[in-house]
Amino acid sequence: MTLGSAESWIDRIIVVTGAARGQGAAEALLLAELGATVIATDVATEADDLEKAAAGLAGTITYQRLDVTDEHGWADLAQQLGDNRVHGLVNNAGIPQRSRLADVERADWDRVITVNLTGPMLGMRTLAPLMGPGSSVVNVGSVAALTAHHTVAYTASKWGVRGLTRVAATEFGPRGIRVNAVHPGYIDTPMIEGAPPAMLPAHLSLTPLGRPGLPDDVAGVVAFLLSDASAYVTGVELPVDGGYTAHGGAKIIADAVAG
Ligand SMILES: NC(=O)c1ccc[n+]([C@@H]2O[C@H](COP(=O)([O-])OP(=O)(O)OC[C@H]3O[C@@H](n4cnc5c(N)ncnc54)[C@H](O)[C@@H]3O)[C@@H](O)[C@H]2O)c1
Repeated sequence: MTLGSAESWIDRIIVVTGAARGQGAAEALLLAELGATVIATDVATEADDLEKAAAGLAGTITYQRLDVTDEHGWADLAQQLGDNRVHGLVNNAGIPQRSRLADVERADWDRVITVNLTGPMLGMRTLAPLMGPGSSVVNVGSVAALTAHHTVAYTASKWGVRGLTRVAATEFGPRGIRVNAVHPGYIDTPMIEGAPPAMLPAHLSLTPLGRPGLPDDVAGVVAFLLSDASAYVTGVELPVDGGYTAHGGAKIIADAVAG
């Protein structure tokens, strides 16, 4: 089992998108702790704290600006990587958009689909040629992709990530490249700062573990899917949600019956 052995991660190049903060930053740091050579990217111009936090870890983090919607940005990254083999890609960058179907603006819809769905497609299309047998892609979906979450554009974009993940797993499998998805529940990051205050208690009332998730809760699962410990796992979708999607609504009944 090689999840924790530094030898298995050393010299492994892993690209993480949306890594300036939140889950992406936690993923970059954990991977560097394990020994990987992490290229942390984000639309933000800098992430000084991230590079500082990586000092002294077994691996390294190099920060680079990349807007996941920018095909030329992806091409530049691939060119920089040159002949280097890429071991992993974490398509983590994402934006929320909370409009409902009755009033969603076309421009908002297009923006969310472009960042959350087209971004991961561009990442895989661009970096897969640099990946070989044993490499792994993790696409970050959401519990919105497993439910009728009220945010129409966000929810549709994340359902799209599910289809993209399965197509990629099927297409790249014969080349030994694995592609899986994680579906975070309510995770305590800057993204949820703009969520309506009623959302947290409502979400927690449907979460058997009874607490919000932390960025590290997701990072550990992402690291597992990038590691050789999951070498025969591809095309799966793993909720990281404290049980939120497991009960299909039955928690309300279970709680009522328990009194
Ligand atoms: N926080 C949650 O509760 C939650 C729940 C389910 C899924 N998710 C998903 O998890 C992922 C990470 O979210 P987070 O909670 O860490 O949010 P976050 O807002 O803290 O971080 C998202 C990062 O993505 C970056 N980003 C936005 N647009 C980008 C672009 N065009 N190109 C490159 N980077 C871009 C942002 O600058 C930011 O650093 C997202 O895909 C999000 O949809 C989050």
